[in-house]
Amino acid sequence: MPNCLICRTPIEPFISFGKMPIANGFLNPEEFPHEHFFDLQVGFCSQCKMVQLTELVEQEKMFHGNYAFFSSTSSRMAEHFRRLADTVKREYLGPDPFVVEIGSNDGIMLQNFAQAGIRHLGIEPSANVAEVARQKGIRTISEFFNEDLARRIVAEYGQADAFMGANVVCHIPYLHSVVAGVKILLKPKGLMIFEDPYLGDIVAKTSYDQVYDEHAFYFSVMSVSYLVAQHGLEIIDVQPQTVHGGSMRYFIGHKGAHPIKPMVAAQLAKEEAMGLQRPETYVRLRENIERSRTDLMKLLRDIKQQGKRVACYAATSKSTTVTNYCGITPDLVEFISDTTPIKQGKYSPGAHIPVKPYEEFKKRYPDYALLFGWNHGEEIMAKEQAFKAAGGKWIVYVPKVQVLE
Ligand code: SAH
Ligand code: TMP
Ligand code: ZN
Repeated sequence: MPNCLICRTPIEPFISFGKMPIANGFLNPEEFPHEHFFDLQVGFCSQCKMVQLTELVEQEKMFHGNYAFFSSTSSRMAEHFRRLADTVKREYLGPDPFVVEIGSNDGIMLQNFAQAGIRHLGIEPSANVAEVARQKGIRTISEFFNEDLARRIVAEYGQADAFMGANVVCHIPYLHSVVAGVKILLKPKGLMIFEDPYLGDIVAKTSYDQVYDEHAFYFSVMSVSYLVAQHGLEIIDVQPQTVHGGSMRYFIGHKGAHPIKPMVAAQLAKEEAMGLQRPETYVRLRENIERSRTDLMKLLRDIKQQGKRVACYAATSKSTTVTNYCGITPDLVEFISDTTPIKQGKYSPGAHIPVKPYEEFKKRYPDYALLFGWNHGEEIMAKEQAFKAAGGKWIVYVPKVQVLE
């Protein structure tokens, strides 16, 4: 049995999604024979309450000079990070401010600090996306963050007022080294502010497609409290976010340095009430996931029988779990439409569904569009009024499988 990555207690997986490829590993046909697969399984640690993958993919296989995810493809996310940066600028910066961000990607958040002339440093191991940030004038180094790097940053730049990370902390298996690094890096009143998809939303919405290689952890306030307390830090506030299908933003400071907002206890009480501390909750989650798969496959087969066309919308990393776990193959769906040039002309990981430029979708609307980018649903539906007006229908599977009329 594998051990919990946080507290070393042996854990048993509560669900197996079977063999999975790299979620962002879009590929060409000549690469099919060498595609890397691993067992995608999730476990719950009854000791420290952390939900986590029980088999991991090496980080260099996922984050490299050919990384396919560019944050700035979503204008709504750009707006989300602009607002966060404004709050940080207004409320959390002291004299001679310094802001560090891990997983800074193409600079979607740090651009707001760079433009304001605020000292900043992006830490982004995927060299191609880091280069886009540098082109925008954002100081970025291409390394994986850990305790050793934190020491080097302090030696060169001094301590930070804010240490930020969006959709990246949950990606890092060696979290103790990260949090130990944060402890070293933060000024006495400094704050770590990070956000990741929230376990409470995954359980409530059966959004199992949040589970893929990059997401080593599925955080709750409970499990994050336990982790940071091991390093003399504490959660001082939490703020639920609607982005990415439901995320949680955590504010963490040195123990005793800040008053703790009532929202922390309130959210912990909600988690208890939801049963996030109980193994039975995850047995129920598995049953809901299996039902979701059955329903989606029945719907897609029925539509095929009627001779209607289905295309998929947005080649998200999440969709790799859906296509491979459910068994959605190119005989059921024609292609995936996506606006990211690096994904276009390639094939989806594992299921090998062709990824085509968005223009293909517009040129000849399918009867149904399977919304793989449901987490960007509002932005996408607002943009696709013409598809609906032409009689097109959306298929969604979160929170349940349905056709939106
Ligand atoms: N913050 C952006 C990007 C999230 S994708 C957003 O929310 O849109 C996750 C990013 O984290 C990737 O660009 C990946 O290269 C980077 N990353 C992965 N492991 C990391 C680590 N150990 N330290 C710093 N960045 C890391
Ligand atoms: P994500 O869910 O992993 O953030 O991936 C988003 C993907 O969706 C990215 O490949 C770009 C694509 N996308 C579109 O194709 N059209 C859109 O309108 C949006 C918002 C995203
Ligand atoms: Zn544990």
